[in-house]
Parts: sequence; C-alpha cells; structure tokens
Amino acid sequence: MDLYLKGKTAVVSGASQGIGRAIAKTLALEGVHVLATARNEDLLKSLEAEVVAAGGVSPITLIQDFVAPDGPQKIASAALASLGHVDILINNAGRSRPLDVVGAEEEWSAAMTLDFDRHRQLTQQLLPHLMERKTGAIVNLASTYELRSINASAVAKAAVVVWSKQLSAQLGPYGIRVNCLQPGLIDTENIRPFFPGDERRKFAEREIALGDFGAPQDVANMVTFLVSPRARYITGTVAVVDGGLRHYPF
Ligand SMILES: NC(=O)c1ccc[n+]([C@@H]2O[C@H](COP(=O)([O-])OP(=O)(O)OC[C@H]3O[C@@H](n4cnc5c(N)ncnc54)[C@H](OP(=O)(O)O)[C@@H]3O)[C@@H](O)[C@H]2O)c1
Repeated sequence: MDLYLKGKTAVVSGASQGIGRAIAKTLALEGVHVLATARNEDLLKSLEAEVVAAGGVSPITLIQDFVAPDGPQKIASAALASLGHVDILINNAGRSRPLDVVGAEEEWSAAMTLDFDRHRQLTQQLLPHLMERKTGAIVNLASTYELRSINASAVAKAAVVVWSKQLSAQLGPYGIRVNCLQPGLIDTENIRPFFPGDERRKFAEREIALGDFGAPQDVANMVTFLVSPRARYITGTVAVVDGGLRHYPF
C-alpha cells in the first residue's frame, strides 16, 4: 500500500534508539525527510548510516538535550531551517520513572518536564507554522494509565493524552491531526532493566495474549500509518500497540 509519504518532512524526538529510532528509520524508508534529534551523537550517526544503507532518505541529525529550557525552540528552529517546512511531528523522547509511593519532588518535576512539558513546548513552537500551512500530523507517544505502582512518566503521559485530545479538537479545522500511541511493553533499553533474565519470558507468557514483548518496529508501523494521508479521517485517538497486554485478571 502506498502511504503517500514520499517527499514529506518530519521531526522525531528521541530518535537515537528504541521506538523513536524505528519511527525515524521507517519514515525515511518511506521517502520522508526526517530531522532526528536526541543527545547521543554516535547513535544518531549510526541511524543515518543505517537508513542510507537501507535505501532511505538520509536523515538530518540534531544533537540536543530536550530538557534544556531552550531545547524545544532550538529543535523547532533547526527543523524549519533544514527541512523548510514541517508536515509531521513525532513527540517520542521519554523514559520510564518508577518511584516510591512518595517519590522525590525532583523526580516528579523531571518527569513532567521530559515527558509532557517539552513535547507541549516543541509542538507549540511549530503550531503557528502548521496552522498557517493548514496541514500537519502529530503523534504523541503515551503510556498505559493502568499501572498498579507509581511511575511519574506514566502520569505525565496521561497529561499528554488529555492535551492531545484537546489539541485535536482545536486543530481539526486547520487540517491538523493529533493522535496518541500507547505502547504496551516494547523491547527497548527503557524497559529491559525491569525484566532481567527469564523475567521477560515468564511475564509475557502469563500476561500478553501474543506471548512476547513487542519490537520498536511494531510501534513504528502504526505511527507511520497514523501520520500518513491514508489516516486522513483519524484524529483524537489513542492507538494501542500492546500484543493484547491489557486485560482483567479473571
Ligand atoms: N518501551 C516501552 O515499552 C514503552 C512503553 C510505554 C511508553 N513508552 C514511551 O515510548 C517512548 C520511547 O521509549 P523507548 O522505550 O523507545 O525508550 P528508549 O529506548 O530509552 O529511548 C528513549 C529516547 O529518548 C531520548 N531521550 C531521553 N531523554 C532525553 C533528553 N533529555 N534529551 C533528548 N533526548 C532524550 C533518548 O535519546 P538520548 O539518550 O540519545 O538523548 C532515546 O532516543 C518514550 O516516551 C516512552 O515513555 C515506551
């Protein structure tokens, strides 16, 4: 199926590894000009080489700490300067942050900054541009809101979902679509430390209908569809990619 993405432009945060890297690569292989940003220069360079070797459009890479106060502004400026215009925004950078029942204030604040505020600010930096062009597709990486232990990142992601739904309603008349993607357990550096040794297999067999964690590519496939013109009538949704993880314990 042609996704009609060839020649479009995209900004992907958290593109050095895991889900963001798979999204950046998949878009580039569809012919999208990608600005891939994160902090790890070596990983971004290897992404560039990997995409070129696979026959995709070479991504532009930007080394930038997203939590720096001027991070969103710098990313938006670099995107407009290097891509000319932005069609697609993937708000992906983030990390799981399990806390005690009363977590340290700095941890709560860091989670809200990385997992909610910076995404909101980067989006807001690009909104005048998107609204003027009357086109755009935004996907925000969310998380489950049904954990049974405190995780500050998941709380920030719940804010992302509410904000996305509000944005989608306001931006629909401008031809801009806003969706969220809620991954289940995807095999990345973010998740691996929580399931050492045989824990992953045991957990997956017990809790995941499809029997294993997902791969970053599983998320990238859905995101790529959601930002494509094929999804022109889809906005304000939370798409779940979790192998059937969510269920009642009976
Ligand atoms: N994996 C899962 O099962 C799962 C489940 C639910 C939600 N999610 C969400 O999906 C998104 C991607 O997660 P992942 O599992 O792919 O994580 P990952 O493999 O740890 O990758 C996280 C990405 O975010 C970037 N990042 C983190 N802090 C940053 C900072 N201060 N400045 C710039 N970039 C930063 C990292 O780049 P650098 O380190 O190079 O800066 C990296 O590219 C996150 O928002 C996460 O919360 C994942």
